[in-house]
Amino acid sequence: MSTVKFSNVKKSYGDVKVIHDFSLEINDGEFVSFLGPSGCGKTTCLRMVSGLETNTGGLIEIDNTTVSDPDNKKIIPPEKRKVGMVFQSYAVWPHMNVFDNVAYPLKVAKTPKAELKTRVDEILKIVELTGLEKRMPSELSGGQQQRVALARGLVAQPKVLLLDEPLSNLDAKLREKMRGDIRKIQQDFGITCIYVTHDQIEAFTMSDRIVIMKDGNIVQQGTPQEIRENPVNDFVADFIS
Ligand SMILES: Nc1ncnc2c1ncn2[C@@H]1O[C@H](COP(=O)(O)OP(=O)(O)O)[C@@H](O)[C@H]1O
Ligand SMILES: [Mg+2]
Repeated sequence: MSTVKFSNVKKSYGDVKVIHDFSLEINDGEFVSFLGPSGCGKTTCLRMVSGLETNTGGLIEIDNTTVSDPDNKKIIPPEKRKVGMVFQSYAVWPHMNVFDNVAYPLKVAKTPKAELKTRVDEILKIVELTGLEKRMPSELSGGQQQRVALARGLVAQPKVLLLDEPLSNLDAKLREKMRGDIRKIQQDFGITCIYVTHDQIEAFTMSDRIVIMKDGNIVQQGTPQEIRENPVNDFVADFIS
């Protein structure tokens, strides 16, 4: 379990500023959604937590440890940040079976074989994929593939789980079920979670807190109820209607 803190985080690509001055504290065990239209900077913020992108200014801390402080040339590489990630596409590796997909982060961390098997078995049970270890991704449904991705994101016992529109490729019915499943697993683990989505239903049904973004800025943050009852402006009111 862990906290995540953004302090005055900025990101530019060349001359183009995409994140302006992003400050946010995420509590231990909290499920926070970044909600906003396409291009507003959600993925960029998530990738800066993981270390796949580096902020051009400001500070990012995980569990009270600085992971990125470019002004002081302190950047912890992604593999040392102890974050788990689940993406929208390319969620699982097509050439690896279920077991190997899930075991991958443990292999990279050189986990001893016996422990690796125990941990993979445990996590597959949690995501209800026991018995499908030898299946290839092409032999799984979309929902099962996303469970593999979720298991892979959790297996190394990360401090923070980052999910980037993980349900976008699933049909409506499955999306609904997976929303509940992800939330339950998050609560069972008590894991701190940042969930990126442009889908207001997902954000409102799953989150402890929602951060609404527009053009690289936070427009409003609050519990689903606070935002629904008191949208700060027309943009928020329109976006959540
Ligand atoms: N590698 C990149 N190079 C240049 N611009 C980028 C890059 N990645 C993202 N952007 C730009 O940054 C902005 C935010 O993108 P992104 O974080 O992916 O938004 P979202 O996830 O909210 O849809 C967009 O305008 C996008 O075009
Ligand atoms: Mg995105």
